[in-house]
Amino acid sequence: MKIEFLGHACIYLEGSKNVLIDPFLNGNPLASKKPEDFENIDYILVTHDHMDHLGDTKSIAKRTGAVVVCIHEIAEDLSKSGIKSEGMNIGGSINLDDLTVHMVNAVHSGGSTGMIFELDGKTFYHTGDTALFSDMKIYGEFFDVDVMFLPIGDRYTMGPKSASRAVEFVKPKKVIPIHYDTFPILTGKPNEFKSYVEDKAEVIVLKPGENIEI
Ligand code: NI
Ligand code: MN
Repeated sequence: MKIEFLGHACIYLEGSKNVLIDPFLNGNPLASKKPEDFENIDYILVTHDHMDHLGDTKSIAKRTGAVVVCIHEIAEDLSKSGIKSEGMNIGGSINLDDLTVHMVNAVHSGGSTGMIFELDGKTFYHTGDTALFSDMKIYGEFFDVDVMFLPIGDRYTMGPKSASRAVEFVKPKKVIPIHYDTFPILTGKPNEFKSYVEDKAEVIVLKPGENIEI
């Protein structure tokens, strides 16, 4: 499976299903792709409706027919625009074709959520925008997370030090830092994050447009 970082909090997974998370591309100065670059998207996971996460969800979903997985209120709003969605809420899980999504807590405004999801035998945790919170320890016990995506940019989310504590709580095998450098006010840096994480997980720093195979 391919994991591509598109900048900010946007991740693209290409496996038995193609999954986009938080597709903020138009308006993102570092985005490596345009919304029109995506033709075959099966699912879009949206952690919350801040513009740097909901982003281009509507236009991509309309054009590709992707099903949007998100919290109930966003799903209701999207359905008014004729977009297919699967609404859910924190604590719940849904099984879609080849994709299982568990919606978890996030400490942030705007009805923010985290998404722990399973695709092709791998488990991923995209925390969305969040502060550090102690329930992450429970998620680490419940789930065997292969790859964690977490914000390190500070100001609106965790910074490098608290993000490194989140890694200790969740114990993922690999961690990919996100939500930094997009705008100058996001000051947290991946090298600082990496220095705190040390050998607790494999830190993979991707520039927008870079990908890994797992
Ligand atoms: Ni936000
Ligand atoms: Mn954000």
